[in-house]
Amino acid sequence: MQRLLEDLAPGHPDCELARAIDPARLPAHIAIIMDGNGRWAKRRHLPRVSGHRAGVQAVRATVETCAQLGVQALTLYAFSVENWKRPRAEVETLWRLLRVYLGSELPLMMKHDIRFGAIGRLGELPAFVRAELDQVIRRTENNRGLRLNLAINYGGRAEIVDAVKALVKDALVEEARSGRMEIDEAAISARLYTAGMADPDLLIRTSGEMRVSNFLLWQIAYAELYVTQTLWPDFNRAELLEAILDYQRRDRRFGGLGRPAVIEDAAIEPAVEPAGVPAR
Ligand code: FPP
Repeated sequence: MQRLLEDLAPGHPDCELARAIDPARLPAHIAIIMDGNGRWAKRRHLPRVSGHRAGVQAVRATVETCAQLGVQALTLYAFSVENWKRPRAEVETLWRLLRVYLGSELPLMMKHDIRFGAIGRLGELPAFVRAELDQVIRRTENNRGLRLNLAINYGGRAEIVDAVKALVKDALVEEARSGRMEIDEAAISARLYTAGMADPDLLIRTSGEMRVSNFLLWQIAYAELYVTQTLWPDFNRAELLEAILDYQRRDRRFGGLGRPAVIEDAAIEPAVEPAGVPAR
């Protein structure tokens, strides 16, 4: 948080927004559906790929701001398993952009102590993309600041299928060994691509569509949703800070009744929790 304030010139319009953020209640994990690149380009009578190119600038600003704020994890939806249906030239441009991005962003990642990772069916990506990803993953593996995940060839259902396959395999081995087969929520979470990371607290979607588009289906069970009309290439630091401020105004109840102050009848006995259901 302090790093962001230090980076902002005195009197910069974003200073007021940054100061309004409570550093003690930052979302630990922010996930973003970066949408609207094509519409951004269309409005300017440009080819769709110009929108993707312009979107890279928004990626850079978002990553840097999250690192400066002290957010623990940021997951960006860069390419879905369904995006292969797009024209081949567009898909190839996206791979080229990713390569350029990974090549140029390493100094920024090192400067901000960012640990880079990728989630999705990475084995199906072109070899040159995988090589570039592996290199940045290796170079940043000892960094301890923001965990930046790019979701590439990612699908939420595909992820759950992969996790269940791994779980069944492990459970059969365990059953043969101990005669018991443990399948619970923790066992599934531990086999998702995001194993070991906190679930997203805040899911941002740009361009106004009210959909989750197969993104982190399991992990966003209790995420706060924030949809902005802004198209992804126009998403900037001020927009991100606004989204975090909006998140900090929410009353997160996780299925319960929230803060004690909003419970009108304190005399009501709490319901007995069914056995095996953890408190949330
Ligand atoms: C959705 O906009 C965006 C994508 C499918 C790709 C996202 C890619 C970038 C932001 C740039 C490259 C990213 C990195 C990390 C280098 P859309 O094309 O569906 O927009 P539309 O709904 O307006 O057509």
